[in-house]
Amino acid sequence: MDWPALKAAALAVQARAYVPYSNYQVGAALLTASGEIVAGCNVENATFGATCCAERAAVFAAVAAGHRAFQAVAVVTNGAAPGTPCGICRQVLAEFGNDLDVLCFTPEGIEQQYRLSKLLPHAFTLK
Ligand code: THU
Repeated sequence: MDWPALKAAALAVQARAYVPYSNYQVGAALLTASGEIVAGCNVENATFGATCCAERAAVFAAVAAGHRAFQAVAVVTNGAAPGTPCGICRQVLAEFGNDLDVLCFTPEGIEQQYRLSKLLPHAFTLK
């Protein structure tokens, strides 16, 4: 797993987060099955409810680029401890497979690695 490249991509996109309401910047970088990296940042909205998280922004960009299989995602947040993907983002990530490696980290180097199946047991499916 090329975690250094994924982390670098997450950090780079984190700086582009549009966060006038929370000032909480999040960057997410997905590693596709074919080895490409697709990144996304959170984009907030005055209605609050229309805000899109970084993880979902990354998934939607990746799907639009033709990717539907992923190896890993790196998520960077500021603060003392890394944030983990919210429930909606876990469900959206799980749509494409729950054996995804999830690395949550801070710019200062605190990190925690998870498997999506552990973050979202019993994900909803239509099967
Ligand atoms: N946020 C994310 O980008 N990812 C998450 O998994 C949780 C929350 C964003 C949404 C909002 O812009 C800000 O963080 C505060 O909730």
